[in-house]
Amino acid sequence: MKAIRLRQPAGLDNLKHEDMAEPGAPGRGEIKVRIRASSLNYHDYIVCVGGIPTPDGRIPLSDGAGEVMAVGEGVTAFKPGDHVVSTFFPNWLDGEPVPGGFAGVPGDGADGYAVEQVVAPETAFTHVPRGYSHQEAATLTCAGLTAWRALVPEGQLKAGDTVLVQGTGGVSIFALQFAKAMGATVIATSSSDEKLERLKAMGADHLVNYKSTPKWGEEALKITGGRGVDHVIEIGGSGTLPESITAARIGGHISLIGVLAGFGGPIPTVQIMGKQIRLIGITVGTRRQQEDMIRAVDANGIRPVIDRAFPLADLAAAFRHQESGGHFGKIVIDI
Ligand SMILES: NC(=O)c1ccc[n+]([C@@H]2O[C@H](COP(=O)([O-])OP(=O)(O)OC[C@H]3O[C@@H](n4cnc5c(N)ncnc54)[C@H](OP(=O)(O)O)[C@@H]3O)[C@@H](O)[C@H]2O)c1
Repeated sequence: MKAIRLRQPAGLDNLKHEDMAEPGAPGRGEIKVRIRASSLNYHDYIVCVGGIPTPDGRIPLSDGAGEVMAVGEGVTAFKPGDHVVSTFFPNWLDGEPVPGGFAGVPGDGADGYAVEQVVAPETAFTHVPRGYSHQEAATLTCAGLTAWRALVPEGQLKAGDTVLVQGTGGVSIFALQFAKAMGATVIATSSSDEKLERLKAMGADHLVNYKSTPKWGEEALKITGGRGVDHVIEIGGSGTLPESITAARIGGHISLIGVLAGFGGPIPTVQIMGKQIRLIGITVGTRRQQEDMIRAVDANGIRPVIDRAFPLADLAAAFRHQESGGHFGKIVIDI
């Protein structure tokens, strides 16, 4: 079978499409899955350009969707033919975050899903939403679950809340969809007026171009009549956090998710304290939260926005498309 391996020194030119032996039969508690699709996240990109050190030959990509080929002894949740999607933290099933960081995360500390077949513990997968294609299912593991966890288990989102989403990447578009499905008002930002029009068509209530309106936090305050927004999906990091704090209401909730505008920098601590902001760092979520999200997706008929699909052999070209920033929603990989 084929896999993509990241050879050292890491870089997009060293993503090699190689032959490898098929895995054996699943053992007790394991399932064998024919992976059919994956999707790209910024985290996968950072791994593949060498921003996160990995050993020679690491198989990249955290997201994997496909069908169960065989089940081992004792497996009750799945049967051959079931469509499944991977979880980001195979060892974090529920409850408080577990130690170990990214050590067990597919495509980072462990081999990922840029491969045709895997054998894994059954708990490393969940069922997929009804009627989802493999491509659609593969968008949920990282981007979908991150947006869900930020807004629902952590944010306690309720109808009538105002949510600010930044940009038109995978996480932000899922956040827009979940927020609208739950009866929230959405303020969406983008660097592109054309992309803002697409967000409007998806239900965004207010649009702000963060390039032509660099003080978009003040704009969000104006839009909310001076009250501020209840939730911010913060995907920029240190470069955008000050505006997010301006945008937030007193007691508002900011989910610190991304680093697209910087990895570190001065933090406006006085404003955080003065506004009694609840600031939480989010790293994807649990298997239990993934199951909850999938129930919500089923109930509301949410479908992910897929920008473009690439075959596995063209993984480097897919990352170059992501690098260009021209995408809207998820870039997916057919395997
Ligand atoms: N903590 C976690 O669990 C977690 C999980 C998933 C992702 N993330 C992080 O979240 C971030 C987004 O990930 P993604 O996979 O959604 O990325 P992505 O699909 O590659 O999204 C990129 C988009 O972000 C927008 N953007 C870039 N710089 C921005 C800025 N300064 N202000 C506002 N928007 C900006 C752009 O939208 P426009 O083109 O519309 O301007 C760009 O197209 C990354 O930093 C990623 O590492 C974290």
